[in-house]
Amino acid sequence: MHIQKNISLKPYNTFGIDVKAKYFCEITSTEELSEALRLEGYPEKFILGGGSNVLLTKDIDTLVLHINIKGKEVIKKSEEQLYLKVMAGENWHETVLWCVDHDFGGLENLSLIPGNTGSAPLQNIGAYGVELKDVLVYCEALEIATLKIKRFNNDDCHFGYRDSIFKNEGKGRFIITSIVLKLSKKNHRTNTAYGSIEAELSKKNITRPTIKEISEAVIAIRQDKLPDPKKLGNSGSFFKNPVIDGKAFHVFISSHPEAPYYKVSEDSYKIPAGWLIEQCGFKGQRFGDAGVHKNQALVLVNHGHATGNEILDLANKIMETVESRYGIKIVPEVNIV
Ligand code: FAD
Ligand code: EPU
Repeated sequence: MHIQKNISLKPYNTFGIDVKAKYFCEITSTEELSEALRLEGYPEKFILGGGSNVLLTKDIDTLVLHINIKGKEVIKKSEEQLYLKVMAGENWHETVLWCVDHDFGGLENLSLIPGNTGSAPLQNIGAYGVELKDVLVYCEALEIATLKIKRFNNDDCHFGYRDSIFKNEGKGRFIITSIVLKLSKKNHRTNTAYGSIEAELSKKNITRPTIKEISEAVIAIRQDKLPDPKKLGNSGSFFKNPVIDGKAFHVFISSHPEAPYYKVSEDSYKIPAGWLIEQCGFKGQRFGDAGVHKNQALVLVNHGHATGNEILDLANKIMETVESRYGIKIVPEVNIV
């Protein structure tokens, strides 16, 4: 195990924010992870995966553990299904492509999401009508206090919209070391109900898509809307879409009948934050090097040399403007450090 000092984290976060880690260590196995947690002299540790859901606003004065534990293995299979165990440092999108290539179904709608597999349970990653909770059997995590591996079955993870136990009572207590996914080997149950997937498939006259065709459609839609972090720093959606109750919804929609919305349950509605932000005039705006993406108002971008605090100032300005104009609170999805 090699501990580096004063490392720039710019290549390790997709916003491309240039802050320093006082100490930095690449973790390539669960044994190395336990060893790093036992080290004396570093009371606090910061866990970093692919850095695609963090906004770094200051130098990190502690030991950064960069999770790079590799490996995947089919641990159980039947004629119809299999369980795939993936170690936490594997790249999520490469895992999806590997499954699509092997004709293992279930992950295709989650194509092109950046980051590590080990971070995926944290916010129950989701896109195009599918969430991690739909395919996760269990994940394993190292408990920091005991250095024991604990298994979290799907129900134990308390998954919600961009939410899990690891963002609440389990926050800072566990480091996810692997995930186990339940995938189909045949008779894939495809999900193309999300509007733009069908439109993308019909451009190619595809009516009964394979999982590969769904993956390709999702990739095409995402490449059209979302900035590539290699070209323009960003962390995907900066805010969550707000979910409001029926009473608040009726007040909102009667004064803004043109607003898009989705009914989530009998008494709750999701309003696209991108629409609220665009209506407030922020889409495509730039404040120094901090900006709002021109094709997707939910995505904040770093045009080059923005600091984390400049992005955070812009986020605060957006949250205040949306709340004062619409009476709706929006909150960050990104982890602010
Ligand atoms: P990091 O940014 O490294 O870490 C995120 C948080 O998890 C931090 O608090 C970190 O301390 C903690 N953490 C990291 N690894 C572990 C671990 N092993 N155990 C415990 N805690 C850990 N998300 C979606 O849900 N849907 C999308 O469609 C989507 N699209 C995106 C598009 C773009 C262009 C970008 C840049 C991001 C997008 N995201 C999306 C957000 C992001 O990709 C996901 O949240 C992803 O799971 C983050 O993984 P990461 O490894 O980069 O996490
Ligand atoms: N919209 C606008 N203006 C915009 C952007 C969006 O009016 O600039 C409105 C439109 O009405 C559009 C609707 O918002 O139809 C929804 O937009 P989109 O389909 O792009 O999805 P989103 O709600 O903005 C969510 C996720 C994404 C995920 C996509 C696809 C959240 C916070 N974001 O975005 O996840 O990829 O749906 O499922 O739930 C992420 O979490 O980082 C992320 C990118």
